[in-house]
Amino acid sequence: MVDALGLGLGLTLVLIAVALHYSGGTEWRIPDDISQEVLERRAETVPETDFPEPMNRSIGGGGGAVAVGGAGAEGELEGEGEEEEGFDPAAISDDEVEYFEIEYVNEGSTIEVANNETVLEAGEDEGWDLPYACRQGQCLSCGGKVQDGDAHDYVRHSNNETLGDDEVEKGYILTCTAYPTDDFSLETNETP
Ligand code: FES
Repeated sequence: MVDALGLGLGLTLVLIAVALHYSGGTEWRIPDDISQEVLERRAETVPETDFPEPMNRSIGGGGGAVAVGGAGAEGELEGEGEEEEGFDPAAISDDEVEYFEIEYVNEGSTIEVANNETVLEAGEDEGWDLPYACRQGQCLSCGGKVQDGDAHDYVRHSNNETLGDDEVEKGYILTCTAYPTDDFSLETNETP
């Protein structure tokens, strides 16, 4: 009696085990690549970045924006160097030398004078006895007068400690420090 009951119970358990073995189960399967699926699902929930492309690049190795900003400071360096009254004739290189025709009215002759040669020296080279004293633009002994108007348009002085701007505008020059920048007629031994 007891054996029959135990046998029946055992058979029942075996049948259940066999039934479970051949059943389809829950049909749940492990995806082939779970990590890829998770990544794609997360990617859909993350919005696209709004950063503009150039900004993204400048974070890594940019510097372009900085270069644009730097140009302004360089620009301000330009604009200096307005031509001043005193200039250095020795700074004129050989290929910058120009010649201008100057008529020495009182001497009755027209000669070519280089832009790195003073009006006084050019006349002396001709053998003319022209007036002078300091030869440094500090007196008025060598004074002359441009006949054609404002002397600023015809000569530049390497040094002028004597003539006022208004006197130069009237045509007066110091021949010892005056270098030609154009053709003109000159009266030597003329002072304001
Ligand atoms: S000689 Fe003195 S200013 Fe020319």
